[in-house]
Amino acid sequence: MIQLAPSILSADFSRLAEDVKAIEEGGAQLIHVDVMDGHFVPNISFGAPVMKCLLGKTALPFDVHLMIENPDQYIEDFVTPQTEYITVHQEACTHLHRTIQHIKQAGVKAGVSLNPATSLDTLDYVLGDLDMVLLMSVNPGFGGQSFIPQIMEKTRELAEIKRAEGLDFKIEIDGGVKLDNVIEVVDAGVEIVVAGSAVFKADDIEARTREFMKLIGEI
Ligand code: DX5
Ligand code: ZN
Repeated sequence: MIQLAPSILSADFSRLAEDVKAIEEGGAQLIHVDVMDGHFVPNISFGAPVMKCLLGKTALPFDVHLMIENPDQYIEDFVTPQTEYITVHQEACTHLHRTIQHIKQAGVKAGVSLNPATSLDTLDYVLGDLDMVLLMSVNPGFGGQSFIPQIMEKTRELAEIKRAEGLDFKIEIDGGVKLDNVIEVVDAGVEIVVAGSAVFKADDIEARTREFMKLIGEI
């Protein structure tokens, strides 16, 4: 099953619950929650209190993407009954193995994200512990950027490693995914597709979500 995880970074925060209801009606399976601290990335988005406002307003699970320094300090803040994944950046973790264990001990699935320029081999010794690898296909910090083409090959390489080693982490891609390249990313091996502006900047969010779901073969 391929999952769509629309990023609320591009939602209208004054009507967040309605925007999220629209992606749920359209068939999306996860809510991608982009947390930015203005240090790890050059932008500030929102923190756990905003995410927690959605508790009970939707049945969709949260897919939390922490683009922050010192993520260990904030993990518990993002653990809720609806949190499925918490993903940290490899580049932000001095003791990555410890941080992954911390997330799992908090009772949620653990993901690690790689910036576009970070090699897959930085995860060699932790891959078996991971529930998800999130490949950034833009430099993180902003919605609405263009997909970096080299990440298609990086995705294929990761899918091959996963197959060869018989591992079961999910491969997620984030940044610049639109209706016109979503099939290519799924063909490359992506199992969870993040789309921000392509979903939430549409005039009809529910209809746009449904278009994505059709293309990824889920309706
Ligand atoms: C980028 C974020 C992405 C972003 C994707 O820093 O992690 O999740 O919102 O937005 P689009 O799909 O507009 O590139
Ligand atoms: Zn993200």
